[in-house]
Amino acid sequence: MLICSTVKDLREALSSKALSPVGFVPTMGALHAGHISLVEKSVGENPVTVVSIFVNPAQFNDRNDLENYPRMTESDIKLLSGVLRTDDIVFIPPEKEIYPGNEPEVIFDFKTLDKVMEGAFRPGHFNGVVKVVSRLFDIVMPDVAYFGQKDLQQVTIIRELVRQQNRKTRIISCPVVREPDGLAMSSRNLLLDPEIRQHAGIIFKTLSAASELICSTDISEIKEFVREQINKTPGFSLEYFEIADDLELKPVTMKTEMVPGRRYFGCIAVRAGGIRLIDNTEFNCSVIKG
Ligand code: PAF
Repeated sequence: MLICSTVKDLREALSSKALSPVGFVPTMGALHAGHISLVEKSVGENPVTVVSIFVNPAQFNDRNDLENYPRMTESDIKLLSGVLRTDDIVFIPPEKEIYPGNEPEVIFDFKTLDKVMEGAFRPGHFNGVVKVVSRLFDIVMPDVAYFGQKDLQQVTIIRELVRQQNRKTRIISCPVVREPDGLAMSSRNLLLDPEIRQHAGIIFKTLSAASELICSTDISEIKEFVREQINKTPGFSLEYFEIADDLELKPVTMKTEMVPGRRYFGCIAVRAGGIRLIDNTEFNCSVIKG
């Protein structure tokens, strides 16, 4: 695999290989099995894969979160070298390659998509995500890009970005990869205090139990159940839990609002010690009762 740090080197490497389709896995590093599953999928489906590692300051609404975000480029490269082939590329740009300083400030309009859930709790976050994804797409020009379903709202918004900008890139969403206790893999798990980590399986355990209630129980009661389960776990507090579809991301308050044929997901954000974790799982009931 080739490691590039400038846009020029990356473009030259891709042009000289002239391989297509180009698969792309954008990451912020601190790679784990979830990222590797995306890379493996891209490698299996495309003759060339580009993996980017760039901790994007524009998407952090909290300075501490940006400063504490784990950075481990050496071990990331080692991990990638076990999956990537000779023609594949790891792109690790310095900030000035991504944001040279002369780019116009673009404000994206995603209507309600970025106003709920993560968007409501992390103002400006999605504007920063699409800013970097749009820039990375301009640089890599991928045919296919792979994202984790753990960030369900991010995937929906990136699909909308591709639609609005009339891009050719196909967006593939890949299943959440979990630790043995159900905790969704995340770079942030590395920051968890050991005592908190020991109990973090409660997040997926609660989501799974709540998903089983969807056919028989009112949404307000399901929400109450989730709140109780999380908040009674020492060191954990619920930020939000919503049931929303993956197209409009519209949280529902009653089952009669659920549109038949759509896929619904229980989406959760939890403060675990000082660390913020998100997760989601599908909530479906073929017979929707009021
Ligand atoms: O999901 C992430 O890791 C980031 O939001 C992404 C898509 C790499 C953009 O910085």
